[in-house]
Amino acid sequence: MERRGLLKAALLLCLLAVCSGRELTIKHKPSTTIYNSTLAKILVEYAAAIYTADLTQLFNWTCARCGDLIKGFEMIEIVVNVENCLEAYVGFASDINALVVVFRGTQENSIQNWIEDLLWKQLDLDYPGMPEAMVHRGFYSAYHNTTLRDGVVSGIQKTRKFYGDIPIMITGHSMGGAMASFCALDLVVNYGLDGVKLMTFGQPRIGNAAFASYFKTHLPHAIRVTHAHDIVPHLPPYFSFFPEKTYHHFPREVWIHNIGLGSLVYNVEKICDDSGEDPTCSRSVSGTSVRDHIYYLGVSMHAEDWSSCRIVMDYSKLQYQMDLNGNVILSKQPGLSNDRGFSAQ
Ligand SMILES: *[C@@H]1O[C@H](CO)[C@@H](O)[C@H](O)[C@H]1NC(C)=O
Ligand SMILES: *[C@@H]1O[C@H](CO)[C@@H](O)[C@H](O)[C@H]1NC(C)=O
Ligand SMILES: *[C@@H]1O[C@H](CO)[C@@H](O)[C@H](O)[C@H]1NC(C)=O
Repeated sequence: MERRGLLKAALLLCLLAVCSGRELTIKHKPSTTIYNSTLAKILVEYAAAIYTADLTQLFNWTCARCGDLIKGFEMIEIVVNVENCLEAYVGFASDINALVVVFRGTQENSIQNWIEDLLWKQLDLDYPGMPEAMVHRGFYSAYHNTTLRDGVVSGIQKTRKFYGDIPIMITGHSMGGAMASFCALDLVVNYGLDGVKLMTFGQPRIGNAAFASYFKTHLPHAIRVTHAHDIVPHLPPYFSFFPEKTYHHFPREVWIHNIGLGSLVYNVEKICDDSGEDPTCSRSVSGTSVRDHIYYLGVSMHAEDWSSCRIVMDYSKLQYQMDLNGNVILSKQPGLSNDRGFSAQ
């Protein structure tokens, strides 16, 4: 009898140890190795800075959003695609010893219209070289079929030539997140670069399940941050009853939301599973909020000027190249202090 009791107790202890051990790894290992919230707080500020309307301030890194955790950034290149109202920048962040590449979200005069439009986006393009992988042509082309791709790639090459093979952190908010994703995949697959890291904020879906699975193979550590009821990560829609035909997010989502009642509210960063469509993350709530789309990690992602794509800059002070279609690239050599990058033309 006694022996049995002891055995039971030992078994129980053993089980408890296994359980708590398992719980510990589930809770703690992912939070440090999968998702780095310190890095997220830095990258979200870079993703917000690109909504600055005045290019001179952005290029000189004197914009209102260019301080705080991201002061000291060395801007190398801003690529402005005037034809399609798109923008990206590349530069060097010495404090995290990384190259940072940022894509801007939509600048259309009504974000509501842009969001409504997302409901009807078709999977209408075969992703080159990946059988069965389909993506949305508009998002794909915004990066691949405009001046952004060449501009960003040459900015990266120039910066790495000077600073060595430092990590490349690619980010963007909203549609900027969609372009950032295509860029990250392009750098890995077509340029064979290593050290490519992707973290996006409030991005829409961009391809089908086959595409998501290729994406995961090439960028196993990619992070898609979603916020509370943000509507955009719910679009274009996911239909669980049409698994082959529907859009499908690539992993891994990190869902930031509040739990609690009244004065006891906790901010939770939920590390989701590696399916890309974890039903216990943002998909567990209705995605109806535009407001939650515009705030990430306490940072406002408002465009300063929703209504126009006009370029605000003082041409006399900036070195720039313009192509026949009016698209602009502002650039300077890496390693120069901000002021020496300017020259009277
Ligand atoms: C998280 O990122 C920050 C900033 O890049 C870095 O200093 C820190 O070491 C990272 N933490 C982990 C656990 O990787
Ligand atoms: C760039 O910023 C510096 C201060 O950091 C300022 O002295 C300089 O005039 C600025 N240049 C332009 C062209 O705005
Ligand atoms: C890229 O642009 C060209 C010319 O406008 C067009 O013919 C082609 O179909 C576009 N490619 C994609 C993938 O949309």
